[in-house]
Amino acid sequence: MEDMIKLEKVEKYYGDHKVLRGVDLAVKRGEFISIMGSSGSGKSTLLNLIGGMDRPEKGKIVVDGETVSSLPDEKLTLYRRTRIGFIFQFFNLLPNITVFENISMPLLLQGTENDEKVIAYINRMGLQGKEELAPYQLSGGEQQRVAIARALIHDPGIILADEPTGSLDSETGGKIMDLISGLAEETRKTVILVTHESYISEYAQRIIRIKDGILSE
Ligand SMILES: Nc1ncnc2c1ncn2[C@@H]1O[C@H](COP(=O)(O)OP(=O)(O)OP(=O)(O)O)[C@@H](O)[C@H]1O
Ligand SMILES: [Mg+2]
Repeated sequence: MEDMIKLEKVEKYYGDHKVLRGVDLAVKRGEFISIMGSSGSGKSTLLNLIGGMDRPEKGKIVVDGETVSSLPDEKLTLYRRTRIGFIFQFFNLLPNITVFENISMPLLLQGTENDEKVIAYINRMGLQGKEELAPYQLSGGEQQRVAIARALIHDPGIILADEPTGSLDSETGGKIMDLISGLAEETRKTVILVTHESYISEYAQRIIRIKDGILSE
């Protein structure tokens, strides 16, 4: 299968701190990879570059044949909103709106609201009856299920998950990983999962390590 995501000699600096020092990576469509590395090794930095939340100082990021790293700002925002679903450690739900509205948000931003689709995801995630609650009224596992629905609702090709089980107990974390990997397989998403726990990385087909600003398998 062809490479969906390709990074070539990507470098990222914060001042004179070189976090990424020439990263090469190729990910095939539908592949599920994990990235492991110690705290501060640049895992979130790498994910944010692939997701178009940030840009590299040097090198190239190509997704579906498009050079994302040199897109102008509006096109980069469009790329992020349409092609990427993000799942974070601390859920990052909007605190002042309901579960239903959080899940609906990516569709609202695209102008393609679809209540039936939101309801289908609420059912799929086992969140029936919680639609009108605010995020703070949910358990951690429930909040992460809302975040997973939000990450998938607009049918992005790529799911980027940054320590999605990092703030959950291991049993809830395992259920969340079952849900992410099951849905990814079913809908043929490409998944990049960041974790520092090896039992979580085993959900991936390929494990990549990051150390001293470069990747190795
Ligand atoms: N906006 C920023 N400004 C300055 N330095 C930053 C910024 N973002 C990240 N860094 C630095 O870049 C390095 C890598 O950070 P990053 O968040 O990618 O690490 P990480 O591997 O995700 O760590 P963790 O496992 O703790 O989440 C760290 O040394 C961090 O201090
Ligand atoms: Mg991080």
